[in-house]
This record gives sequence, structure tokens and C-alpha cells, in this order.
Amino acid sequence: MTDFLVRREGTLGLREHEEIAATLALAFPGYAEGYRGSASWAGLQPEVRITAHDARGVTAHAGVKRVFVQIGDGPFAEDHLVAAVGMVAVRPDLQGSGLGGRLADAVRGVLGALQVPFGLLETGEDTTGFYVRHGWRALPGAVGTYNDFTLHGPARVIRQDHGWHILPVTAEFEDWPDGEIHWNGQMV
Ligand SMILES: CC(C)(COP(=O)(O)OP(=O)(O)OC[C@H]1O[C@@H](n2cnc3c(N)ncnc32)[C@H](O)[C@@H]1OP(=O)(O)O)[C@@H](O)C(=O)NCCC(=O)NCCS
Repeated sequence: MTDFLVRREGTLGLREHEEIAATLALAFPGYAEGYRGSASWAGLQPEVRITAHDARGVTAHAGVKRVFVQIGDGPFAEDHLVAAVGMVAVRPDLQGSGLGGRLADAVRGVLGALQVPFGLLETGEDTTGFYVRHGWRALPGAVGTYNDFTLHGPARVIRQDHGWHILPVTAEFEDWPDGEIHWNGQMV
């Protein structure tokens, strides 16, 4: 059984950031430029890291950050608390071995401990199956806006009309409100 470490961002030192960045650069080759040195995040900095390790470093990683997203165009008081989940990765030499499934379980456990209504993420077609396999629910037809990764220039606002998924935690799937999702900033 894999042991996962759940750590708050403020407890990580330079070496821990470097270890995480090294694995993220391997798992996301298209973003390797962004995961250099101790740059262990590419968008919104997580507040919690979930990691597994072996003698060579980090084998699996996910980042979590609680944020309010605007859904629709209502006033601030109607914004919704979510746990943004991102940088979900297994080191390539271990992919397909079941580690990702255990990581997804660990993420669910952390979101349960945080007692958020929902987890929220956007993912590509290739990995939709992975999330759905692990309890996430697709939001067909949902549209969301967010600021781009730092590497690509975060001033750019992207409007994405597919790939949105939620994980109901303390709320029910049916409680998710209708309307366009606005991060008003970067995603994890
Ligand atoms: C996505 C990723 C984390 C999955 O980890 P993994 O270790 O390869 O996955 P596992 O071997 O644990 O598979 C877990 C389960 O999900 C399924 N699964 C894995 N990848 C899948 C995919 N792309 N589509 C559908 N199902 C998938 C597996 O069949 C398995 O199902 P099972 O429990 O019924 O056997 C890993 O492939 C990865 O790091 N990819 C690169 C980074 C990335 O794209 N991250 C996600 C986007 S943020």
C-alpha cells in the first residue's frame, strides 16, 4: 500500500519544491519549461500537496487550493467555495501501475477533510476517463474562464467549453449551480 504525504504548502522547503517540480516536468513534458528548479506550480499555488515517494524522489503528486469561483454573473455573496485540484501526476515510469488510482483516493480523502462542497477541475479528453473512474462527474456543456498558466502569460483569459468536472464532497451533484464558471484568476 502506498503511503501518501499530505503537507501544507508553508511547510515545504526548497528541496521539496525541487523534487516535486522534477516529477511534474516529467509528467507534463509540454510544460517542462515551467517546472524548472524550485518552480513546483504553474498556475495558482496550491495550499496542500499530496505526494508519494521512492528513493528517486516524488512518484505521485496532486495540488489542492480552496477558492471561491463565480458562477453566473451574480454578486460576490453568491460565489461558491470549491477545492481546485490540479497537477495530478504519476511519474511516467510508474504510470499504469495503479498508483494514479491510489492518488485519486488520497485526493478524495483530503477534500473530505477540508469539508468543501465540491472539487473542481478542467481536464483534457485523454484523462476524463481517469477522473470519472474515481468519482468525478463531468459537467457537459459547462463553460469556464480562467487566466492562463504563468509560462504562457497569465494576463490572458481563456474561455474553455469542455472538460469541466466536479467531485461532490459535502454537496450533491444536483446542487451544482447553472451558469458560466469564472475563476477570476489561475487554476492549480
Ligand atoms: C492520469 C494519471 C495521473 C493516471 O495515473 P496512472 O498511475 O497511470 O493510473 P492508474 O494505473 O492508477 O489507473 C487508475 C485507473 O484509472 C484508469 N485510467 C488511467 N488513465 C486513464 C485514462 N487516461 N482514461 C481512462 N481511464 C484511465 C485505469 O484504467 C485505472 O482503472 P482501474 O482502477 O479500473 O484499473 C497519469 O497517467 C499521469 O500522470 N498522466 C500525465 C499527467 C496528466 O495528464 N495528469 C492529469 C491531468 S491534470
